[in-house]
Amino acid sequence: MKKVLLFLFFIMSFVSAFAHHPDSVFVKGYTTGKNDNKNGLHIAYSFDGKNWISIGNEFSFLRSDYGRWGSSKKMYDPVLVKNSSTEWACYFFTEAEHKVVGVATTSDLVLWKPQDYFLYEEVKKKFPAINKALSNATVVYKQPWSFVQALINHTDLEAYRNMQYSVTAQSFAEKNPSLKPVNVSLNVHMDRKKTISDKLVGVFFEDLNYAADGGLYAELIQNRDFEYSSKDRREWNSTTNWINKNGKLIIETAQPVSKNNPHYAVLQSGDEIVNNGFDGIAVTAGEKYDLSLFARSVNKGSLSVVLTDSNGNKISNEITIAANAANWKQYKAVLIANTSFKHARLSVTAKKNETAVDLISLFPQKTFKNRKNGLRADLAQAIADIKPRFMRFPGGCLAHGNGLDNIYQWKNSIGKLEERKPDFNLWGYHQTMGLGYYEYFQFCEDIGAEPLPVLAAGVPCQNSSHHHQTGIAGQQGGIPLNEMDAYIQDILDLIEWANADKSTTWGKLRAAAGHPAPFNLKYIGIGNEDLISEVFKERFAMIYKAIKAKYPDMIVIGTVGPFYEGSDYSFGWDFASAMGVPMVDEHYYVPPAWLINNQDYYDKYDRTKPKVYLGEYAAHVRGRPNNMETALAEALYLCSVERNGDVVEMTSYAPLLAKEGHTQWNPDMIYFNNSELKPTPGYEVQKMFGNNAGEEYIESSVTVDHGNADVQKRIATSIVKDVKTGDLIIKLVNLLPVEATVDFKDLQLGNYQIEKTVLQGNPDDKNSKPVVTKEAVQNNKLLLPKYSFTVLRIKMK
Ligand code: AHR
Repeated sequence: MKKVLLFLFFIMSFVSAFAHHPDSVFVKGYTTGKNDNKNGLHIAYSFDGKNWISIGNEFSFLRSDYGRWGSSKKMYDPVLVKNSSTEWACYFFTEAEHKVVGVATTSDLVLWKPQDYFLYEEVKKKFPAINKALSNATVVYKQPWSFVQALINHTDLEAYRNMQYSVTAQSFAEKNPSLKPVNVSLNVHMDRKKTISDKLVGVFFEDLNYAADGGLYAELIQNRDFEYSSKDRREWNSTTNWINKNGKLIIETAQPVSKNNPHYAVLQSGDEIVNNGFDGIAVTAGEKYDLSLFARSVNKGSLSVVLTDSNGNKISNEITIAANAANWKQYKAVLIANTSFKHARLSVTAKKNETAVDLISLFPQKTFKNRKNGLRADLAQAIADIKPRFMRFPGGCLAHGNGLDNIYQWKNSIGKLEERKPDFNLWGYHQTMGLGYYEYFQFCEDIGAEPLPVLAAGVPCQNSSHHHQTGIAGQQGGIPLNEMDAYIQDILDLIEWANADKSTTWGKLRAAAGHPAPFNLKYIGIGNEDLISEVFKERFAMIYKAIKAKYPDMIVIGTVGPFYEGSDYSFGWDFASAMGVPMVDEHYYVPPAWLINNQDYYDKYDRTKPKVYLGEYAAHVRGRPNNMETALAEALYLCSVERNGDVVEMTSYAPLLAKEGHTQWNPDMIYFNNSELKPTPGYEVQKMFGNNAGEEYIESSVTVDHGNADVQKRIATSIVKDVKTGDLIIKLVNLLPVEATVDFKDLQLGNYQIEKTVLQGNPDDKNSKPVVTKEAVQNNKLLLPKYSFTVLRIKMK
């Protein structure tokens, strides 16, 4: 920060000392059409009204927020007008055809309020002033020079920050070729300590990248209920991932198993239908698999079920199901694989008479904690190994959905599988809801994590492709106010379902599902990265007040946008603070150098305002790998978060899981396929923090024997005490291309038993693993290898 101020001071003194500018200049807004019209509004000034100078070299002061990411977000023919002495407005079209008008307002041309969109036809009728502005030529204003100077300062600062944030491990090493190993003095002030959150490291599970179906949810059959549809993906339908070796697969909907599950398959005698699972079914020799299916046959059918290899050879016992019920009936059996095979299939053959089948399911018996309808054991264990103190679910964007109809409804995700209501997943696939709220809560309990469900704040994703009332994409819709009571009741019912005893309506359902004891829900997230619009605020306030009135102890977590600054962040913080929301959920995906340069981000936070849940963050570099460079930047930043564990209550890296071949978002923490897990360096960092958490932060001061601040800030440390064990935990990050020797000064480590964990690797390494050793610290000094993260766990007792 010091450097930024120095830089600004330099610029400003240069400007005032040498620039000869008049008291006022002409100012106008314009756009260039570059970058497929996505660069938005630029501002230029002129001394004579003829020759124009672009501020910040075509700096984008405002971009269109209309429509979905990718193809949308375009701005055409913007008009910048001054509405009053304190308000500017920008009116623009969102496409070349001039059908939809975007409206944005601001007081300083930097922080813009949420945009509104109107059909141009409507604007012509209802908003003559806007229509007039749109049809006029560019308006030019006379503004004091100080106004333009403030904009120049803003763009200079942005340019400087972008330059800082573009420094990579490689460019830093190249710029400092003769850097010598450094010496670090670490003065630990054992008497200067503070209590910090005991929930700092958690996980954020979003059903993205096939994280649920095909991922953590151990179901092996894809499209088990024949409910895939073109809403999930244009080319999908009820027969997707099934083939009938005998010809066409017949799908019917009359008298289904459940109205929520309307499609089923009808097999004629001799039909053999085959399911390929999710990229094949990985089976292990000798393992048992629970088969379940619903069948109905008026004339007493008979089904035979078997696992096969890709050539149709049988690789399990073959079971016969006497499907002799005229109404839907569930049948269960066990298949035992007689060979290990990664791409097995499930074959179901109608041996006699027409038979309808639905919800054909296959689970390994060995799920996590052997639960039925359970989770894939290795993936669940990898998450448990982080020792997360909480789990946020089911998204992210998934929670608020693409449009009102796609808002995640927790009630659709509980109860009998055949009665759960599947939906499309806005990430481009299908949600069976088999992994639903019961399973999420159960998993949290199994791994000792607080459940943190996130529910939409009565608004869907602002990037939704369709607005149900206006049909205008990208316009933030909201649940109609006359439907909000019912929506709020659903949220209150969730709390009753989770926490009330079994004499209550919803507590009874939880008990019936197998969990008579309450789940003890303490946190609830309302909203995700929402536009802080009036539509949002009104609905959030209604929900918040209702929860507080009925469950005053519930910790409601609000939302403050998708960035570490900007409109949603600023307005979101103002709103949450004014409402007295106890905690807000911050998100930022940033370059490693942002994390390196902003280690003081939370040092400056007001401790009287809401607490922080850093709910989504990750370091992103070009190509978006998860490698040692990103992981070490995250470790370095987490040291600063621990230091601020009195204001930051929780953190969760995002996203958590990604299935190879089905990844919509990179980087992720754990990559996997059907038979392997590929934890990343970022995962190892989370695990090292999760397993070495403390409840007391101990102050320390670090001195690096190098004069360059860019070198100094690549060394970070955090010292905490695990109050339960009495262990002192020292975390040390070295993001330099040279070794660092730490001198522990007054803290004499020679006397203690120490466990040392070191994660080390070159910046682009993706497979580095931590090495644990038990060795004494020699001469009270420790060598930190270049590009490393070290944790010392010191047994003080
Ligand atoms: O983590 C992936 C996505 O990033 C989340 O769904 C959303 O909240 C954020 O934009």
